[in-house]
Amino acid sequence: MIIFQNVTKTYADNNVVALQDATFHIQKGEFVFIVGPSGAGKSTITKLMTCEELPDSGSIRVGEFNISKMAKQQIPYLRRSMGIIFQDFRLLPNKTVYENVSFAMEVIGASKKAIRRRVPDVLSMVNLTSKARSYPHQLSGGEQQRVGIARALANTPHLIIADEPTGNLDNETAWEIMSILDHINKQGTTVVMVTHAQNIVDDMQKRVISIEDGLVKSDQQGGYSYVTSI
Ligand SMILES: Nc1ncnc2c1ncn2[C@@H]1O[C@H](COP(=O)(O)OP(=O)(O)OP(=O)(O)O)[C@@H](O)[C@H]1O
Ligand SMILES: [Mg+2]
Repeated sequence: MIIFQNVTKTYADNNVVALQDATFHIQKGEFVFIVGPSGAGKSTITKLMTCEELPDSGSIRVGEFNISKMAKQQIPYLRRSMGIIFQDFRLLPNKTVYENVSFAMEVIGASKKAIRRRVPDVLSMVNLTSKARSYPHQLSGGEQQRVGIARALANTPHLIIADEPTGNLDNETAWEIMSILDHINKQGTTVVMVTHAQNIVDDMQKRVISIEDGLVKSDQQGGYSYVTSI
């Protein structure tokens, strides 16, 4: 599903080497946490996966896309193949919950019929049916993030990429989000999640890739015991 092979990324404006010779493979259907200290290079990894940034060297494959060699015109197709969840939700403030989700389908040219069928399904999946007509400012943080998840799922992606999706939520709400992501994963969707939440990583017992100073420090199954704080 995802291959990072000897990937190095330097930000040109400040010469920061954000990722250095990183190699890891993620199989279809896996649930993978990416952890590490602030500034380690975690978000850089997610931005390389979504082609928001390009690597200096090495190769990156995501699904059928060879990102390192991809033409710019391919980027929208790559993004359509994945669902992206953000720490700060990034909902459209002037659209209702329903419209935030349906808009994600409209922009890729889904038919009205497909939208009418799919949106209620994904809203029910994240338990937001009753909030379909609400606007983002009328929702709690956890509800807003559930809209973010519904939107990410709207186009039935095989891959979900989430950069600190629980970063702005309290512990209980964070667990609600985790249980939804776990459920999605159990249905076959690959999930890659960046997080600082040690308790979540420890309890979920999934594969954990830890990044430090742009290097892959460890890559292990079944959680991660932290020596230093993350
Ligand atoms: N657009 C950018 N331009 C220049 N430098 C950047 C840019 N984005 C990130 N960096 C630098 O690259 C390094 C890795 O940043 P990255 O955002 O990947 O860290 P992170 O592990 O996600 O950290 P955090 O946990 O704080 O979100 C940092 O030193 C950061 O300052
Ligand atoms: Mg980050």
